[in-house]
Amino acid sequence: MRKKIVAGNWKMNMTTAEAASLVNALKDDLANFREVEVVVCPPFTALSTVSDLVQGTHLDLGAQNMHWEKSGAYTGETSAEMLRELYCHYVILGHSERRHYFSETDAIVNRKAQAALASSLHPIICVGETLQEREAGQVESVITRQITGSLAGLSAKELLDSVIAYEPVWAIGTGKTATSEQAQDVHALIRTVVANMHDATVADGVRIQYGGSVKPGNAKELFGMPDIDGGLIGGAALDAKSFIDIVRAAV
Ligand code: 13P
Repeated sequence: MRKKIVAGNWKMNMTTAEAASLVNALKDDLANFREVEVVVCPPFTALSTVSDLVQGTHLDLGAQNMHWEKSGAYTGETSAEMLRELYCHYVILGHSERRHYFSETDAIVNRKAQAALASSLHPIICVGETLQEREAGQVESVITRQITGSLAGLSAKELLDSVIAYEPVWAIGTGKTATSEQAQDVHALIRTVVANMHDATVADGVRIQYGGSVKPGNAKELFGMPDIDGGLIGGAALDAKSFIDIVRAAV
């Protein structure tokens, strides 16, 4: 059985004070909640504060990006070891905003994933097609390319330690959610691609989140699909009540 996992990607939002207030509100409701794995991914500046606040609760901490090198002259970057020191257990990699605005390729995402796993961080590896690609009938080829490229060389154990997030670019921040059937189809495709890279056991075991305009009103139906194992939540994760409702929809 795959345990559902719901992660809040706060993106470039929340000052440290705002982050503390949001996480305290989440703790009021979710501190002892075990049915679903709940991860919050604040901006780097708030990681240390949020890390302190989630200690001793069932809330888990994730970062939104990292560099593949361990240390060195990489101005502005953050290493896996630095994240581990703050008790981060997850790191989002290859988000479409990183791919689009910061030119991250599958090869870069793959290097980062390898480095994260080598430091015992669980990568949340994002894939997803643009609207143009969907309309051109390229969903299968784009997703296959992103999955094989981003996950290249990972062992079965490393893949099972990773989470995949399917986030159709056209559904991110637009209010346009993929229908549960559209999302399910791509999640099933991702399992087939993983099965071809490894085997059915790995394909069946890896967790695949859906992301893109998930709200309290559509979460239950999405999370009820057989191959959808939770969500990666953007806008709705910035509001405690919305995020809590989404988390509880995963039970
Ligand atoms: P929204 O939930 O705001 O559409 O963002 C999704 C996302 O990009 C999460 O990583």
